Amino acid sequence: MISRTLLVLLCSTLHSILASLPPDGAYPVPPIIGGLRLSSGGKIIDITHRYVEEMPAYGAEEGMGQVVRLVASLKNGSNANWSEFKMSVHSGTHLDSPAHFYDEYFDAGFDVDTLDLEVLNGPALLVDVPRDSNITAKVMKSLQIPKGTRRVLFRTLNTDRHLMFKEFDSSFVGFMADGAQWLVDNTDIKLVGVDYLSAAAFVNGRSAHLAFLKSREIILVEALKLDNVEAGLYNVHCLPLRLVGAEGSPARCILIK
Ligand SMILES: *[C@@H]1O[C@H](CO)[C@@H](O)[C@H](O)[C@H]1NC(C)=O
Ligand SMILES: *[C@@H]1O[C@H](CO)[C@@H](O)[C@H](O)[C@H]1NC(C)=O
Ligand SMILES: *[C@@H]1O[C@H](CO)[C@@H](O)[C@H](O)[C@H]1NC(C)=O
Repeated sequence: MISRTLLVLLCSTLHSILASLPPDGAYPVPPIIGGLRLSSGGKIIDITHRYVEEMPAYGAEEGMGQVVRLVASLKNGSNANWSEFKMSVHSGTHLDSPAHFYDEYFDAGFDVDTLDLEVLNGPALLVDVPRDSNITAKVMKSLQIPKGTRRVLFRTLNTDRHLMFKEFDSSFVGFMADGAQWLVDNTDIKLVGVDYLSAAAFVNGRSAHLAFLKSREIILVEALKLDNVEAGLYNVHCLPLRLVGAEGSPARCILIK
């Protein structure tokens, strides 16, 4: 039963909330997107996937499985709820450091903590890749990305196929080695964003990564959630965790229009 004092308190709180509303009651209600209230009027677009058990994990038949575990809880008599999480650093929306495919870079300490925040934050172009091909040199050429563009998010057939909402599927679209090399040789792109767990197509998994990561200048951001976002120019913000010694990290990525 609610005590009398509490009821009075609730009523007076409600009263003061109501008093602060515009007279016609037309108070703008922020939209709820993915469980979060947005008060930015839609200016901030979340392009990060939610960590759920069914989320695909690279190369695994089963999904991610349980990531977060409640190890102590109020219900069990602890004085707070307390959770832990455990997952691969290449889970969900995440990025790769040069150490991911180069052992000498791993030994030299090029971990996620060394990635350049200037590259991870700034103007970015969201482009649609023709849906009938992986990203080859020919496809890259056809996209005609203007010189000077430093950050590009590539939306592919993966988004149309809702691949991030299904079990791992190796037929995802990604960069072929010649597409990655073309980007390295002919563009100023330093941030490469893609809409599945790997920037490299499955058949060129190693070779395309090697092409991208060799110079240590390019950062790969993988498994971006690019559904329902118009192609065009935005500001991207991607922030990895400072996991010292790790060759990758989950990241929260947003676009600002
Ligand atoms: C709470 O206690 C029960 C019974 O000991 C146990 O099965 C459960 O895992 C505990 N849960 C948490 C979150 O501590
Ligand atoms: C605390 O943990 C319990 C599970 O024991 C859960 O039902 C409850 O929602 C949690 N409370 C908060 C505030 O997260
Ligand atoms: C892209 O490459 C994968 C193999 O890595 C293949 O299964 C898939 O069919 C290709 N997709 C397209 C659209 O060509």
